[in-house]
Amino acid sequence: MNPLALKQEVKKYWNTAACGTEFINLKKFSKEYFEAIETFRYTTESEIFAFAQFTRFHGKRILEVGVGAGTDFLQWVRAGTDAYGIDLTEEAIAHVQHRLMLYDLMAKEIKIGDAEAIPYEQNMFDLVYCWGVIHHSPNTEKGLQELIRVAKPGGTIKLMIYNRGSLFALYQYLNHALLKGKPFKSVKKVLYHHQESLGTQAFTFKEIKKIIATQPVTIKSLSAPATKHDLLYYKSKPFQWLAYALACIVGWQRCGWFMMIELEKKNP
Ligand SMILES: C[S@@+](CC[C@H](N)C(=O)[O-])C[C@H]1O[C@@H](n2cnc3c(N)ncnc32)[C@H](O)[C@@H]1O
Repeated sequence: MNPLALKQEVKKYWNTAACGTEFINLKKFSKEYFEAIETFRYTTESEIFAFAQFTRFHGKRILEVGVGAGTDFLQWVRAGTDAYGIDLTEEAIAHVQHRLMLYDLMAKEIKIGDAEAIPYEQNMFDLVYCWGVIHHSPNTEKGLQELIRVAKPGGTIKLMIYNRGSLFALYQYLNHALLKGKPFKSVKKVLYHHQESLGTQAFTFKEIKKIIATQPVTIKSLSAPATKHDLLYYKSKPFQWLAYALACIVGWQRCGWFMMIELEKKNP
């Protein structure tokens, strides 16, 4: 599929239900609805707080790319940052606007925007934050370049992209390829067709390091610790023990689905 058509598919997918809202059966945009989204997110993906360090950016100008339902964006605003946010979809922007109104909070700006062509000047932000977004966009590398372009020299870029070498990717391969009698279907293809929106990509450590090496940044940290998704939190205990043992064998800090990357933009 050509990249423009693929991006339309991605947009259609995330416009149907903003990220993290699909399991919530409460009145849309009500306080209960947003609080259930928040509870679910930080219960299942508790690593976000340690990675984002929301309160450390008090008073700083931050941009979140791909805000989704706005759960992290709300934390940036609550932490007293000058928060800007963009997303490809109207559904995401509507979620964030309702959420801010509900808690009487103000962001600097929240608008539609494409990670591959961020609608801001270069060198604008102390922090550019992007959790689980650019691997959904057809040109992930362009997305990464854009995150770096709009960060200030000396500024921070924090992003999460999916790890193809994770246990979660392995389970997706088992479910959608091996157990379906298609052992030669690659992990890449499985994720492209079965992981959220069409065209989802995931990267290895080696691949991502090679891409980052072409950019004016230094890597401050790069790790993918086992997540609840890798440890099969929704399965019975024997499965969880097996997953735990696998994580210890493969390497706890490398086998997680979320590859968390912190970069510092070099001074020219
Ligand atoms: C998995 S959700 C993550 C949302 C949010 N960051 C979170 O963690 O809940 C992916 C989000 O990326 C957005 N997205 C996908 N491609 C994008 C692009 N090219 N530019 C901006 N946002 C994009 C989608 O609309 C969706 O809201």
